[in-house]
Amino acid sequence: MKIENRLFIITGGASGLGKETAKTIVRHGGYVGIIDLNAKASDDLVEKLDAKNACFPGPVDVSSESQVDEALVKIMRHFSSVRLGGAVLCSGVLFAPPRVKGYGPGNKLTSYQQFQYIINVNLLGTYNVAQKVSELLLSNEPTEEDGERGVILTTSSITGLDGTIVGYGTSKAAVAGLTLPLAKELAEFGIRSISIAPGPFDTPILDNDANIKAPPCLFPRRYGRPAEFASTVVHLITHPMFNGSVVRLDAGLRA
Ligand SMILES: NC(=O)c1ccc[n+]([C@@H]2O[C@H](COP(=O)([O-])OP(=O)(O)OC[C@H]3O[C@@H](n4cnc5c(N)ncnc54)[C@H](O)[C@@H]3O)[C@@H](O)[C@H]2O)c1
Repeated sequence: MKIENRLFIITGGASGLGKETAKTIVRHGGYVGIIDLNAKASDDLVEKLDAKNACFPGPVDVSSESQVDEALVKIMRHFSSVRLGGAVLCSGVLFAPPRVKGYGPGNKLTSYQQFQYIINVNLLGTYNVAQKVSELLLSNEPTEEDGERGVILTTSSITGLDGTIVGYGTSKAAVAGLTLPLAKELAEFGIRSISIAPGPFDTPILDNDANIKAPPCLFPRRYGRPAEFASTVVHLITHPMFNGSVVRLDAGLRA
């Protein structure tokens, strides 16, 4: 799938890995529709990228079906003459907000309400947008080489693959687990499904809770840079043989 002259829906596009991906896709001649809760940061990004390249339809919670439906209608209208290429799904939260309490000593254990919050955003929010974008991709003519119609790229995490952090890690294990079944379901329609499982990357998500400090990677001994994530996205979108796989991007770290 080429990126030039294609529209990609980026969730979590206002910050961190999603923001860098949006900038990179536009640099490669593509267009981006930003789906995010953060209106100010999304508006700033659209201003920077120019409204002819980027569209933010207003704040959207990825776990709301109606909000995502409405946002996709607005984005598709904004880019009415551009072919949809797929989605890069980067929205996510590490913890539930403080108002959603844990249980046990010091409320440090994961309550059902916290678990539900994380699953809702990270797993259901990912599938919500993946499914709706896939539905739009079905109406693409399979004009690409190999009859490809599009690509759905999700973001899991090594916490999900290695088994750590009850709510977050479980949600990311499920996102990773979705990758191959989705690829199998969509294969006959020429749509690929891939997931990137990053180790720690230097983005605002790591600042959220002072009690958890992610270790650096094995080598290079540092956090990943958002540009390194974005260049991986470009490679996976443009390389047709990546399908059904979860690609670790962790410089050797095991969580
Ligand atoms: N940075 C890391 O170390 C790391 C490691 C592994 C996986 N990830 C995953 O990568 C993805 C991107 O994270 P990041 O590091 O860029 O974090 P980030 O906090 O910088 O960006 C996350 C974005 O998601 C948006 N978002 C959160 N909840 C939302 C909701 N309900 N609806 C719509 N938008 C919502 C936020 O507004 C924010 O713009 C996440 O899924 C995260 O879990 C990050």
